[in-house]
Parts: sequence; C-alpha cells; structure tokens
Amino acid sequence: MRVLSFIPAFLLAAASFVAAAPTTSSAVGAPSCGPSGSSNGNDVALQPIITIIANATTYIQPLSTQLSGLSGDSCTPDAVSDIVVQITAVVSTCVVQLQAAAKVDLTVVDLTSLCATIYALLTLVFGVLQTVVAIILFLAGGAVGTVQAVVTNLLHAVLDLVGCLNIFVVASLSGVLGPVLALVCGVVDLLLSIVAGLNVLVGVH
Ligand SMILES: *[C@@H]1O[C@H](CO)[C@@H](O)[C@H](O)[C@H]1NC(C)=O
Repeated sequence: MRVLSFIPAFLLAAASFVAAAPTTSSAVGAPSCGPSGSSNGNDVALQPIITIIANATTYIQPLSTQLSGLSGDSCTPDAVSDIVVQITAVVSTCVVQLQAAAKVDLTVVDLTSLCATIYALLTLVFGVLQTVVAIILFLAGGAVGTVQAVVTNLLHAVLDLVGCLNIFVVASLSGVLGPVLALVCGVVDLLLSIVAGLNVLVGVH
C-alpha cells in the first residue's frame, strides 16, 4: 500500500517535469549554454566523449519507442525483458566506453556540446524508466517477478551511467553553464529518484 500510494505522486511529479522541460530547454537553447554562444573550437578533446554519449542515445531511442509501444496483449514479461535487456546492454557499453575515454580537463574546454548531449541521453533514459514504471504497474502482481532481474540490471547500469556522467556535471558546476546545467542536474536528480522508486517497487515483489 505504501508503495502504491507513492507511485501516483511520483508519476505526477515526473509528468510535470516532462511537460515543463521542452519549454524550459527551448528558452535556454544551446546557444546560451556556453559562455559566448559559439564554440571556440576548444571542445575537440571532448569529441570522443560526445560521440560515445550520442551513440548510446541513437541506439536507445528505437528501443525506448518499442518499449513504450507495448500495450495490452503485447506487453508480456518476455517482450518487456527482451527490450530492457537490450537497453541495459547499450547503457553498459556506454559506461565502459566512458570509463576508457581519455580524461579531459573540463575547466579549459567549451562544454556546450557535451552538456546538450548528456541532457539528450539522460532525458531519454528518464523516459525509459518512466515507461518501466508504467509497465510494472500494468503487469502488477506475479508477472512482475519475471521482469525483476532484468529491471534490476537496468537500474544498476543506469546508476553506473549517472555516476560516470556526474563527473562531468559536477566538474562543470564551477563553469559557466548556468541554466542548461541546472536542467541536466534536475534530470539526474529525477533519474535517481526514479531508480530509488523502482528499487522499492521491484524489491517488494
Ligand atoms: C554504439 O553503441 C552500440 C550499442 O551499445 C555499440 O555496439 C557500438 O559499438 C557503438 N559504436 C561506437 C562507434 O562506439
């Protein structure tokens, strides 16, 4: 009961964030992200990292669409597991690639592109987790047990990813990124609260 009463309030908060996000992000679009609004070319060192994050986003996007397209009879534990496993693999690969990437001194580079790329990936992962919440509520009861392991793996991968990206987010706090950074941090906070909520949900069954 405690868990069930937690969900609607949580989804409401999540939904209002999503509704608010596009307005906010268009108001502080990429040009205002960096100090001068134009790249001064010193973000070349970040390009491998940006490529890794953008690649993960590209691979997760269609899977996220498939996941949210599951409904009614098609929303079986097997179908859910199949897609969640694939998303987890992409997230895990992204983490491994980020960990292997060359370290960059974030204080001397233009973080505009990195910031936008991280925001896109986190927003997408945020959507995936929202879908997972909805699916777990839909499956309810006994069927949840069968997706528990794959969802738990996904949560671990997402936590690793947030841990990885947090290096950039925290490091760039001292930078000049103002509003976009606040959005990224907001998404990180929401992701972490979804992960905590899902852990409770999955743990209960
Ligand atoms: C992009 O991500 C996919 C899925 O994780 C991975 O298989 C592929 O190697 C990645 N490509 C690059 C260039 O990193």
